[in-house]
Amino acid sequence: MQTQPLDGAFGAQVLNVNLSEAVDDEAFAKELRALLLQERLLVFRDQQLDARTLRDVGRCLGSLDVHPFIEPVEGVPEVVAIVKEADERQNFGGAWHSEVSFYEEPAMGTMLYAVETPEDGGDTLLADAVRAWEALPAETRKRIDGLRALHSAEHVYGVGGFYQDRAQGAASGTKTRGMDAVQGRVSHPLVRTHPETGEKILYVNLAFTVGIEGMPDEEARPLLNELIQHATSKPFVTRLQWQPGTLAMWDNRSTQHCALNDYRGQRREMLRVVIEGDRPV
Ligand code: SIN
Repeated sequence: MQTQPLDGAFGAQVLNVNLSEAVDDEAFAKELRALLLQERLLVFRDQQLDARTLRDVGRCLGSLDVHPFIEPVEGVPEVVAIVKEADERQNFGGAWHSEVSFYEEPAMGTMLYAVETPEDGGDTLLADAVRAWEALPAETRKRIDGLRALHSAEHVYGVGGFYQDRAQGAASGTKTRGMDAVQGRVSHPLVRTHPETGEKILYVNLAFTVGIEGMPDEEARPLLNELIQHATSKPFVTRLQWQPGTLAMWDNRSTQHCALNDYRGQRREMLRVVIEGDRPV
């Protein structure tokens, strides 16, 4: 595959690939995975996908997740529509996060496809969590390696959580569900090792990381805040601009992301699949 680097800290645009034609090609799937491991973020422009073809492209990378707390597209349970209507104020995914880090086995990857984009704004920021780890001072690395962080979705998808209105049928483009089923906390290494490349990863995010195992909150919160701020700072970030037909895929183990909410009065519609992952070690 022919690529060119994206502007920003990492990632590549892949040229001359029609994803809907490539889906049944095993050699393509293998090459795609290898390229994703290398670049962490891949962007394909001018694709013609719908929910079903996006699902098929997603399967090139593995089994797909059915999100327990987001309403899927009708008839395609693996695909969710992430929509912000022109009259909505709050966007979805607007805090830095790594997909479903509150699962025991969080996502391996995400594919996000732009159906409708605002004239200006609506970009997604992505941060490279391997480079973030590598750039930490040796003293901080020593302090945090071996700690386990707590992740939870309760305050986001649960009763009384940030998305409660969406689960109760508020007029919003992205509907959530299953608020009563949101479970408590899971713990993951704060510094995980990539299961395929062996790289070390700073695995902490603003949306779902809520504490550190065995550490009082008043000590854990400032440490988490410092790490999150470091991990999402400019040297590690790529800003992805969408056009209708853009498909981006990223490795959720080694990146985190955040959707910008700077397009009031305009509509944005994306389709998303999430590829299942394994238990972080
Ligand atoms: C997400 O958080 O998965 C969606 C990001 C976006 O809409 O840009």
